[in-house]
Amino acid sequence: MKKKNKILSFTLLCVLSIALLAACGTAQNEEEAQQGTGGEAPAEKQTLVMGTSADYPPYEFIDTAVSDEIIGFDIDIANYIADRLGFELEVRDMDFNGLVPALTNNRVDFVLAGMTPTPERLENVDFSEIYYVAKQTIVTKEDSGITSLEDLAGKTLGVQLGSIQVGLANDIAEEIGELEIAERNRITDLIQELMTNRIDAAIIEDTVGEGHIAVNPTLTSFPIVEENEAGSAIAFPKGSELTDQFNEVLQEMFENGKMDELILKWFYPEEE
Ligand code: ARG
Repeated sequence: MKKKNKILSFTLLCVLSIALLAACGTAQNEEEAQQGTGGEAPAEKQTLVMGTSADYPPYEFIDTAVSDEIIGFDIDIANYIADRLGFELEVRDMDFNGLVPALTNNRVDFVLAGMTPTPERLENVDFSEIYYVAKQTIVTKEDSGITSLEDLAGKTLGVQLGSIQVGLANDIAEEIGELEIAERNRITDLIQELMTNRIDAAIIEDTVGEGHIAVNPTLTSFPIVEENEAGSAIAFPKGSELTDQFNEVLQEMFENGKMDELILKWFYPEEE
């Protein structure tokens, strides 16, 4: 009996230290290390660090007129899931191209950034179920005369560095011949360069493009004909135990109407 108790408490100790290790082991960085060393506050929730690229309204962006806080569809999803799983959430902004490396270096616990699972990315990270599907469009100045992919011949087409749009741009280049591809870190850079005529067009997904067009009415867009759908999923370091936990909550959100509510809130605000 005594022995059993010992084994039990040893097991408990292991479980506790694993939990502690997991808490400190996730997203190691200077701040976290400082916070994590106390170990004296068992009541405090563990913090999950989320990586994102806050240049992608309505998924994640900063509405500078309101505050410097990152808001959006992905942020609401992350908050809901973190809350359901009993974690605090810290959102960290970085260039889109740095998100997969941040996962592989364990600098973040997960990435929510409208990211599409691709075979290349799947070599380095794991993905949740797809939570939203979008289409790709060409955004251009209204007076650019570009109304079809063929019109892009001889022009400069912008895409976000490290995004699936780079692959799409390469496909288009192959199809139409001469096309210069300009890769930029931020969608906002692409919009700025469109407005100042440094690039002629950019591939941006539908709702994200529409958001920018709403504030820059000299811009317009048309869909890329071959219905290129790009689903978004949550990315995790390979083998992370969070993947299953997040999938369960995603499932719950699909079933209890929370996902629909958030899609309406962020993608169709006027219909709310
Ligand atoms: N869905 C595209 C991809 O995965 C673009 C995502 C860009 N996201 C962002 N937050 N800038 O490559």
